[in-house]
Amino acid sequence: MKRQFSRFFGKSKKRSALLAFSTVTVLAAVSVGQEIKAYFTPPEIFVAKPYVQLGQGKIENEKVSHDVLFLARNDKHEWELEYKTAGAKSWQKAKPLIKSVLEESQPEAVSLFSTTLSGLPAGKPFTYRVYRDGMETFSANAKAQVAENQAFKFIVAGDLGAGSHGQKRIAQRIYSESPDLWVMPGDLVYNMGLLSDYLARFFPIFNADESKEAIGAPIMRSTLCVPVIGNHDIAQSVMLAPTNLNRMHDALGYFLVWSAPLNGPLKQFQGPNICPIVGTQSKLSAFQQGAGKRFPQMANFSFDFGNTHWIVLDGNYYMDWSNPEMRKWVSEDLAKASSAKWKFATFHQPAFSTDLYHLKEQRMRLIVDTLEKGGVDIVFAGHAHNYQRTFPLHFKPTTGKMNHDGTVDGAITLDKAYDSTENTKPNGIIHIVTGAGGARLYSPTDNAEINRMGDFLLKQISDCHSYTVCKVDGGKLTVSQISDAGKVIDKFSLKKD
Ligand SMILES: [Fe+2]
Repeated sequence: MKRQFSRFFGKSKKRSALLAFSTVTVLAAVSVGQEIKAYFTPPEIFVAKPYVQLGQGKIENEKVSHDVLFLARNDKHEWELEYKTAGAKSWQKAKPLIKSVLEESQPEAVSLFSTTLSGLPAGKPFTYRVYRDGMETFSANAKAQVAENQAFKFIVAGDLGAGSHGQKRIAQRIYSESPDLWVMPGDLVYNMGLLSDYLARFFPIFNADESKEAIGAPIMRSTLCVPVIGNHDIAQSVMLAPTNLNRMHDALGYFLVWSAPLNGPLKQFQGPNICPIVGTQSKLSAFQQGAGKRFPQMANFSFDFGNTHWIVLDGNYYMDWSNPEMRKWVSEDLAKASSAKWKFATFHQPAFSTDLYHLKEQRMRLIVDTLEKGGVDIVFAGHAHNYQRTFPLHFKPTTGKMNHDGTVDGAITLDKAYDSTENTKPNGIIHIVTGAGGARLYSPTDNAEINRMGDFLLKQISDCHSYTVCKVDGGKLTVSQISDAGKVIDKFSLKKD
């Protein structure tokens, strides 16, 4: 049968034009003396089709490197990848693919294949294609990270992979925006962030072959998406208990399938401010091998994109943002980014939210003073499955420690003069919750306690799935919240000289 395949498709790359291999049904056998034909569909080539990632994402001399990743079975095939910038004459070979087995040793274990495409001109489109055993099996177009002087558009939306109609509609809407970047502030896939959750409710929808309301859209293969870790990404089966690999062997998919800058402060496998994990030695080793340096480094990191600087933080239960070393890393990172026109912080658990479910999860208020000093303009969070925007605000903590009930005492000062039209320079950070990306929506009455908690909320919309679109053009930043029906449900802008 293998020979029939070769004859049918040819071995030469030039002759191969096989883009949707898995959908091709091949004649397998003809029963002697009968007209009945038996067919079989070849097994899926990919467990998750190729997708582009920021990788280390550093621009030098207007050139940038990005990673392409895909998941396939741990088999004996030979993989190659080549790429070409729009307008270039020839294809360039990518570095040999690196394989990391993501499951405990077993035949056909799921493996991550990754490579880096270097020398991509900033902000320019490029095409990449993947070969298995010399046959082209996949091809996609993407766009490289923009340079400092280029205007660009980014999306922020979290609380995503629930497999819902809302998630699929949001995927389709976001794809139609053709963003340069999508930042995902946590709860990337439900319910536990397992590798198997990614395969069921994340990749099939966000890396679908076509853009359709009932399916999803081909976003991951074409758009740089940046992850943020949320509470559903750490497989917590019991509140505040360590992630248990004996119960869920494919937990912490966050550290297995993403490639974001590894410039965070945490480098040990275990210790303070690191997600605690338990399991047999073989399960722990399998995870450690699959994740490599990404665990725990990729829980906190930073990157530049155009004229913006982003700091991505972990807001989960094991984090102590009163810790001097963690605070020092945040403050130094923001100070180093002094040339960035705009600075954004993103984490899952909002510092300021009015939803009833998370009123006492104020852990991230502990780091807000450092973000303010570092010049952060907007904080993007998720966790509450709705949209919220605060007035620009300053927060002055009273003790700098979290209370036993999860609250953080301090004084909030609001800037009510900022109106986005006459007054476009906010005094303080605007905190946005954009957690309506696909998970079950919270009730519109969830802001019932707003007055008791402080009058910091300017807008809340809970009756539709939605996402945030930001357009950056030099010193002008426009932020719009768009519903899954394409309606603008909030809009404001900021200006800087
Ligand atoms: Fe969530």
